Amino acid sequence: MAFSMYMLLNGRDPGIFFGSVVWLLLSCSFSFAVESDINCLKSLKASLQDPLGYLNSSWDFNNNTEGFICNFLGIECWHPHESKVLNIKLSDLGLKGPFPRSVANCTSLTGLDLSSNKLSGPLPEDIGRIISFITTLDLSSNSFSGHIPTNLSNCSYLNVLKLDSNQLNGSIPLQLGQLGRIKSFSVANNQLSGQVPNFGNNSAVTAESYANNAGLCGKPLDLCRGVKKKSNSVIIVAAGVGGATFAALIVVISLLFFVRRVSARKKEEDPEGNKWAKSLKKTKAIKVSYYRA
Ligand SMILES: *[C@@H]1O[C@H](CO)[C@@H](O)[C@H](O)[C@H]1NC(C)=O
Ligand SMILES: *[C@@H]1O[C@H](CO)[C@@H](O)[C@H](O)[C@H]1NC(C)=O
Ligand SMILES: *[C@@H]1O[C@H](CO)[C@@H](O)[C@H](O)[C@H]1NC(C)=O
Ligand SMILES: *[C@@H]1O[C@H](CO)[C@@H](O)[C@H](O)[C@H]1NC(C)=O
Repeated sequence: MAFSMYMLLNGRDPGIFFGSVVWLLLSCSFSFAVESDINCLKSLKASLQDPLGYLNSSWDFNNNTEGFICNFLGIECWHPHESKVLNIKLSDLGLKGPFPRSVANCTSLTGLDLSSNKLSGPLPEDIGRIISFITTLDLSSNSFSGHIPTNLSNCSYLNVLKLDSNQLNGSIPLQLGQLGRIKSFSVANNQLSGQVPNFGNNSAVTAESYANNAGLCGKPLDLCRGVKKKSNSVIIVAAGVGGATFAALIVVISLLFFVRRVSARKKEEDPEGNKWAKSLKKTKAIKVSYYRA
């Protein structure tokens, strides 16, 4: 409590300030707020596969010392003697499994770094609700797949957003351009395509932020319009030419049929032979050679 007052008085970053206000309210309203962070880490540990045993050896919950979780590997607390998690940094520990939704119960979390693990599957559609007050999200160098949820644009305190080196596809939600505090941004090395969001004149978002994807366009990359129009008109011309050829073929084939039937009938009716059908046959031959050319 004393610490949150300190944060209130000294916090310069409005994100931290707001986080402190929320935390202060939560601390006042719910005496079990701290218990929820311990449970948060318990369910986080349960939801992650840990084949190298890092969490198994470090995250020991059989300890009732206040703030004991603050000594866990990768856990930073707001205050070392209060079990209130500030950051979770579990980079490069060989962790497997889906995105851990359980972090939603670490209600004062501001940083989540799960980079360089083997996490996989889609990012939750409601990710903005799971990590509402997060300022740093680093999920780079994992195997996350599917699209980037539009809901991520609700994480309005994001300063650092790193989703690079995964298997994300589809287009990047244009709403991410609303993230006005971005200081570091990368979605490089994925399979993303389409138009990129407009981050205004944010110098943290560069062509490098988008490198090695399936086909992104728009500032700071090449414009989208030219490319689209060209390929569209090529398709339209090709379709037009193909359609005309097909129609001509149909005409020629039905003409052939018509001529054959007429000549067959004429032969029956007119044993002298018929000049008319013969002349039509000639035309047909000319037409076929014309359309084949
Ligand atoms: C977890 O650690 C305990 C002892 O700390 C050990 O007995 C157990 O085998 C470990 N489990 C795994 C999966 O590494
Ligand atoms: C409990 O946690 C405290 C603080 O992290 C640590 O100093 C102490 O050794 C732990 N006790 C046990 C029995 O693990
Ligand atoms: C958060 O904690 C509550 C109460 O312990 C639990 O019912 C809920 O499933 C947890 N939420 C997540 C996302 O783990
Ligand atoms: C952001 O959250 C609000 C309410 O929590 C929701 O109505 C809205 O759809 C969310 N925005 C996006 C882009 O998901």
